[in-house]
Amino acid sequence: MSADAALGRMVMVIPTYNEAENLAWIVGRLRTAVPTSDVLIVDDNSPDGTGRIADELAAADACIQVIHRPSKDGLGAAYLNGFRVALEQGYDVVGEMDADGSHQPEQLSDLIAALQHADLVIGSRWVPGGSVVNWPRRREMLSRGGNLYARTLLGIPVRDATAGFRLFRRTTLEAIDLDHVESLGYVFQCDLAFRTLRAGLRIQEVPIEFVERERGNSKMSGPVAAESLKRITRWGLSQRRREFLHRWSR
Ligand code: GDD
Ligand code: MN
Repeated sequence: MSADAALGRMVMVIPTYNEAENLAWIVGRLRTAVPTSDVLIVDDNSPDGTGRIADELAAADACIQVIHRPSKDGLGAAYLNGFRVALEQGYDVVGEMDADGSHQPEQLSDLIAALQHADLVIGSRWVPGGSVVNWPRRREMLSRGGNLYARTLLGIPVRDATAGFRLFRRTTLEAIDLDHVESLGYVFQCDLAFRTLRAGLRIQEVPIEFVERERGNSKMSGPVAAESLKRITRWGLSQRRREFLHRWSR
């Protein structure tokens, strides 16, 4: 179905791992808030039965589909799988959203409006007007620190490069060489923002209110954070090397 006459057909990709208490609630809110968007759930064989709930939702609503992956292989890997299927199916707008209620479907229309003049829209906590509700201080520091590190090292003007509430134009996903994305965890978000800018495309941040989940647990972990630090450092160093060589080769 169409997101907006000018933008074309839209699908929101929702990755899930143990979101049995949240999935039906968030998908229901999404279908009500933006009935023109289809939904593609990507479940990593959640032990709590999320996959079964996803199948029930899909059976009851032709606009909902499910991809079942055999094991928990990371947020980035799940999104890449979802994006490939969405592109194969011809969607023009492909979105990202968490299943736990942190991203409010009722704010999605702001992102859709902004996509008229952008190639990637990011629902952002760290631009004026953006906010977080009930986030533990430790998580806020991690997000702010991570974003500062990424922004400085990569030289990108994005305030919330790790955010997971997004809309991509299909042409953006086609331009950024998804086949060579190696990021497995949450650093995938930063990876795609960096690639979008390097492809010369436009990113627009829209302020959102991020609400910490009330049910279930975050899957952020030590290894997930370590992957982010390692990859951002490596990209930053190659970026410096490129700039250095460029300066000396003139
Ligand atoms: N399929 C799959 N596989 N889904 C996953 C995996 C995975 O390995 N890991 C996490 N998810 C799903 C969760 O079930 C949820 O729907 C969504 O991805 C976000 O996971 P959370 O664990 O709730 O993330 P968070 O609240 O700690 O982190 C938030 O902030 C991060 C940093 O800013 C999210 O908004 C992330 O998208 C964001 O990168
Ligand atoms: Mn969450």
